[in-house]
Amino acid sequence: MIKDWISQFSDNIKKYGGYSIGKLFALLSDPEIISLAGGLPSPDMFLKEEMRIASQKLLDKELESIFQYTNIQGESSFIQAIIKFLKRDNIHISEENIVITSSGQHGLDITGRLFLNPGDVVIIDRPTFAGAIVAFQMQRPEFVGVDIEDDGPDINGFRQKIEELKKKNKSPKFIYVVPDFQNPSGITMSLEKREALLDLSYEYDIPIVEDSPYRDLRYYGETIPSIYGLDQKRKGGNVIGLYTFSKLFCPGIRVGFNIGPKDVIKRMINIKEGNLLNTPKYNQDMCTAFLTEMDMETHLEKCRKYYREKLNVFLKTMESCFPIEMGVTWTKPEGGLFLWVTVPEHIDTQELFYEAIKFKVAFVPGEVFYGENPAKNHMRINFSYASKEQLAEAVKRLSGCIKKQL
Ligand SMILES: Cc1ncc(COP(=O)(O)O)c(C=O)c1O
Repeated sequence: MIKDWISQFSDNIKKYGGYSIGKLFALLSDPEIISLAGGLPSPDMFLKEEMRIASQKLLDKELESIFQYTNIQGESSFIQAIIKFLKRDNIHISEENIVITSSGQHGLDITGRLFLNPGDVVIIDRPTFAGAIVAFQMQRPEFVGVDIEDDGPDINGFRQKIEELKKKNKSPKFIYVVPDFQNPSGITMSLEKREALLDLSYEYDIPIVEDSPYRDLRYYGETIPSIYGLDQKRKGGNVIGLYTFSKLFCPGIRVGFNIGPKDVIKRMINIKEGNLLNTPKYNQDMCTAFLTEMDMETHLEKCRKYYREKLNVFLKTMESCFPIEMGVTWTKPEGGLFLWVTVPEHIDTQELFYEAIKFKVAFVPGEVFYGENPAKNHMRINFSYASKEQLAEAVKRLSGCIKKQL
């Protein structure tokens, strides 16, 4: 047996403490706990019968090929279906602009590997998606965060940080954003800010990584053009788009895709050669069936109605359980799966989490969503998974728990 395994580990791994959300989930095995912690879409929205039919068809017709190695970039028929899928969102790409990934998380990992050396700077929102922090962290970058505002990232804040870095002869490798119904805050970036972010990107020559898992899950308001689409209109070529089928179809399928300039995609394919080879053909073919045979638009409309109702129940119960004098505030998302609750500053939500478990309710403490210097008095709430009755009950339990801290 090696005497000291740890000293053999790479520096990247030695310095990595593990995904803190994962550790919290281990504490939620009690079935009495209503968990608002995970980012799970509801299985009620899985296209069960359609999946059975599509799966059987694949097994009947293509059993040998679906379980064979396939090409690394992705299945051609799937890529063509995605090209069409993106057209409906005014994004126009060809085959050289896309690589299929084995989920959004894989897409983030490839992006981090492509751009980051230890010490490189990534600009992010405060808060931002914890999974992105984890994925990028493997390359040991420096995160520079800017507080998010009600209408999206603080673009002037980004500019300020870029200028500060410039004085130290540094330039960020990219800016990472989730413009639509951000995880964890539920905030959506306004059109003005999307354009302003592109201006910034062109001015300083910094790529934008636009992560879009929730774009089709809008419950209120008008769709805002994607940054990728706006950049195409302006003939920029500065944006990389990250997508996943996890929230629209199902997360267990582990399929997504990255889009971007062909030189970027070519190198992402090289990275995929090393860290995965091919995404399983069966999974890709199931997603192709989702795009082409399962009446996706009707399904998405159903998802929107279903999640909108849950969001409404949640917000309504929050109104009645958290009177203004409690000093608790929350975002009111127009889509997605999450919202962000802010409690009075003296409450540390990491500690509150353990109290909440006693009240049989769980959330994710906000501090995991910061690349540096975490704020302590926030929590992420997921409203897509629990039933409406559970959501209402969870808010009551949460209110009881927080009242004890005031
Ligand atoms: C913003 C964001 N990006 C990426 C992902 C990763 O998605 P996947 O489940 O496909 O790995 C998630 C999942 O919650 C997410 O919220």
